[in-house]
Amino acid sequence: MKEQSRAKIILNRNNCFNSGSNVISQCQELSKITEVQGELTRTYFTQSHNDCNELVGFWMKMAGMKVSYDEIGNVIGTLKPVKANDDNKIFVMGSHLDTVTNAGKYDGVLGVLTAIEAISSLVKDNIDLPYTVKVIGFSNEEGVRFPIARTGSKAIAGILDNDELQTKDRQGRSFSSQQQSFINNSCVPIVPVEILEKNLIGFLEVHIEQGPVLYRKDLPLGIVTSIQGADRYTVTISGIAGHAGTVPLAFRKDAMHKASILINRLYDLSHNNDFMLTVGRIKTHPDSTNTIAGEVTFTIDARSDNDFQRRERIGSCIDQFISDIEDKGMTAKVVHNYSSDTSICDHVLNDQLSKSMKKIGIPHCHLKSGAGHDALSFHNITPIAMIFVRCFEGLSHVPEEDVNSSDIEKAVNLVKETLISLGEK
Ligand code: GLV
Ligand code: MN
Ligand code: MN
Repeated sequence: MKEQSRAKIILNRNNCFNSGSNVISQCQELSKITEVQGELTRTYFTQSHNDCNELVGFWMKMAGMKVSYDEIGNVIGTLKPVKANDDNKIFVMGSHLDTVTNAGKYDGVLGVLTAIEAISSLVKDNIDLPYTVKVIGFSNEEGVRFPIARTGSKAIAGILDNDELQTKDRQGRSFSSQQQSFINNSCVPIVPVEILEKNLIGFLEVHIEQGPVLYRKDLPLGIVTSIQGADRYTVTISGIAGHAGTVPLAFRKDAMHKASILINRLYDLSHNNDFMLTVGRIKTHPDSTNTIAGEVTFTIDARSDNDFQRRERIGSCIDQFISDIEDKGMTAKVVHNYSSDTSICDHVLNDQLSKSMKKIGIPHCHLKSGAGHDALSFHNITPIAMIFVRCFEGLSHVPEEDVNSSDIEKAVNLVKETLISLGEK
């Protein structure tokens, strides 16, 4: 990591920047760590993943935490009580450090840096919590490089299925080979969940809202009531490539034509905001203007609160399509890469957040999350809660993503106040 960027951030701290501006300048610093010059793209097991972990680990140390890096690519900061013992309860906070392609500066990193800032403020004020706090920068929440997502948080929560890891990136490089070249001797094994679960008090994630509710209501923060479920698939349609000008229509096995039919049928399933469907990535082979596509691969991302209906609708649409094209001598392969159920946030933690907000005078509302988050991974093992921070015009997953520093300062104060209150129980 560059000494220059460390020095700049330390200088910001010494100049008594408020916590919101400090977090913003750190987000901007992290946005320079990218694998594609001119845009922010930071994916799993890359040099930029490593550099980002190191800088975040450095900031964790500066805040007073002990830092470790694990074999699945997470960076973990730990703050123990002054008189720590093995029976100490553990509260976990965090979000992801990877990004989508051509991302904004705040998705994920904001939650990690807000948590670190709150810890730094507790340490500076000599507040000794009666439990351990872990702040985790999770790896691969987005699932851009490999067709798997939320890998870091699933591993920590003990729900990562080894079968998921038998996968390859789009260049054909295996997960395990990329993991081997990423991890080094100082990486620790993944935290054993049986130890964590016994002592876990809860999980809290701060995140930009990524939608327009808070912006339209002119509110800085929101408390999340539930996180919408999602499924992701990769579909590969195989036909026969051939000359665009000579093969008669009746003899064509045009994979792109069939892909367009399936994509249209899928989009027809999505009539309103209760069922959202997106085909965001498509690849064709041989990828030539004047050649009939012999193979087309595309992704499906489907979201709704109704988990059963979502999977049922997609499943029957695809089954019907496969039987239609098999009649024409073509094939389609479908891989169901990712699945998460709709999850309800914990009422007790949410009540605590409400009380803390009232105490420090932060106007807020309750809202649902349309996006998926690392918090989902902890849903079945500990109470989860999320705080949303208003983002400019609700924009996210685009470079225009923006957040204001006074909203972040409120989030830092809220996290700090909530940690103190949890310690008083
Ligand atoms: C996370 O960014 C998601 O795709 O919901
Ligand atoms: Mn995202
Ligand atoms: Mn995110």
